[in-house]
Amino acid sequence: MKIVLIGYMGSGKSSVGKVLSELLDIPFKDLDHEIQSAEGKDISTIFLEKGEIYFRKVENRILKELLLAEADFVLATGGGTPCYADSLEVMRNVENTKVVYLRVPLPILADRLMADKENRPLLAHLDSKETLMEFVGIHLFERSHFYNQAEMIIDVQEDTPETIAKKIEQRLL
Ligand code: S3P
Repeated sequence: MKIVLIGYMGSGKSSVGKVLSELLDIPFKDLDHEIQSAEGKDISTIFLEKGEIYFRKVENRILKELLLAEADFVLATGGGTPCYADSLEVMRNVENTKVVYLRVPLPILADRLMADKENRPLLAHLDSKETLMEFVGIHLFERSHFYNQAEMIIDVQEDTPETIAKKIEQRLL
């Protein structure tokens, strides 16, 4: 089975995905890393040199390549992946795939992102906690429409990646 983790930046898709892949004994893949190796550049450089629309096209193409391959894995997507073009539709419709949304409350996301926004081109310019909180609040509201279409929604507070991964594993049974 292909497990596709979606959710806002900072929701723990990569850390949960790694643990879940160990529990399920299938490989872990990270869409941002796949994009970086395909392009030979980090995400911030792609945004800077080619712009966001170019990034979204590459993101959509690589997502499809992964989902159409004959393989099982846990995939951590980027926060925007399900919100552009037909990416969500493809995730939901490819056979043997389960889309899982890690839903994290805004204050927890804002704390995590404030401490780790430099490598995130959409957030790097936000220089105070207030502006970040306002931006993320609106952005999360806009994106929730897409995230809530996941087949499984996991509410996450301050739980460890191990606890969250176990919860997902149980609900897959
Ligand atoms: C993005 C999230 C990032 C990365 C890019 C755009 C977004 O991934 O794909 O910076 O639009 O939310 P993470 O969710 O892993 O930070």
